[in-house]
Amino acid sequence: MELREMIYKRKSVRSYTDERVDEATLHKIRDFSCGLKHLYSDIKVHSEIVGRESIRCILPWTTPQLIAIFSEEKEGYLENVGFMFQQLDLYLQSLGIGVCWLGMGRPGKEMVKSKDGMKFVMLLAFGHPKGDALRGDVSEFKRHSLSDISDKEDARLEPARLAPSSVNSQPWYFTHEGEAIHLYCAMKGLLKVKMLTDMNRIDVGIALAHIYVANPLTFGFYKANEVKNVNGYGYIGSFTV
Ligand SMILES: Cc1cc2nc3c(=O)[nH]c(=O)nc-3n(C[C@H](O)[C@H](O)[C@H](O)COP(=O)(O)O)c2cc1C
Repeated sequence: MELREMIYKRKSVRSYTDERVDEATLHKIRDFSCGLKHLYSDIKVHSEIVGRESIRCILPWTTPQLIAIFSEEKEGYLENVGFMFQQLDLYLQSLGIGVCWLGMGRPGKEMVKSKDGMKFVMLLAFGHPKGDALRGDVSEFKRHSLSDISDKEDARLEPARLAPSSVNSQPWYFTHEGEAIHLYCAMKGLLKVKMLTDMNRIDVGIALAHIYVANPLTFGFYKANEVKNVNGYGYIGSFTV
């Protein structure tokens, strides 16, 4: 199945067999990882496939293998990681492999130290699913409606609407201005000190990846000089499709 089709069928898989993914498939995964499109091309990113034994995680479910993601810590690096590795998430699902973003785990100290100054950002758990790795159709997604996530109902945003996010928070909001669509992220915290959380910045990168995968030839991303304020949200970037 094509990557784009996976947007409408994918789901987070949390039940896996103990069987490891074979070397030929791992090779494909590494190859695909090398070609991931960056949101910010100047940010260095590194990923590697690691065994369960090198990960500390308190979840009740597990997989024999995971992907550990590291990045230079520059402006936009979290959105960049979400954007890049959601492409890999869709690719894994297209191979029939189950996958789940995993915020509640991290590699052991030694691995984190040895990455050339890059910061550990996130894990992707993957493996052979027990049961279905895909949804039957779009009605099985629990998501806000298009009119909840945008200043106007725009079918071009459907791929972003279906994107996965940490605790299904769906922190994205879109506004329109001519051809441009501006992306915002919900801020959290006390009334006076509201800020964007790291997880939510990854989430909005993931939503952008779905827009890119649905429009690979026309997608263009940039930072606008001036955008209107949206109460409770921070500006992330703008795109055309
Ligand atoms: C950045 C990020 C972190 C996540 N961390 C976890 C996690 O630690 N444990 C977990 O079970 N699911 C995790 N998820 C999966 C979300 O809970 C899931 O994407 C969301 O509930 C929507 O469900 P779906 O992916 O099946 O469409 C994470 C998702 C994202 C995008």
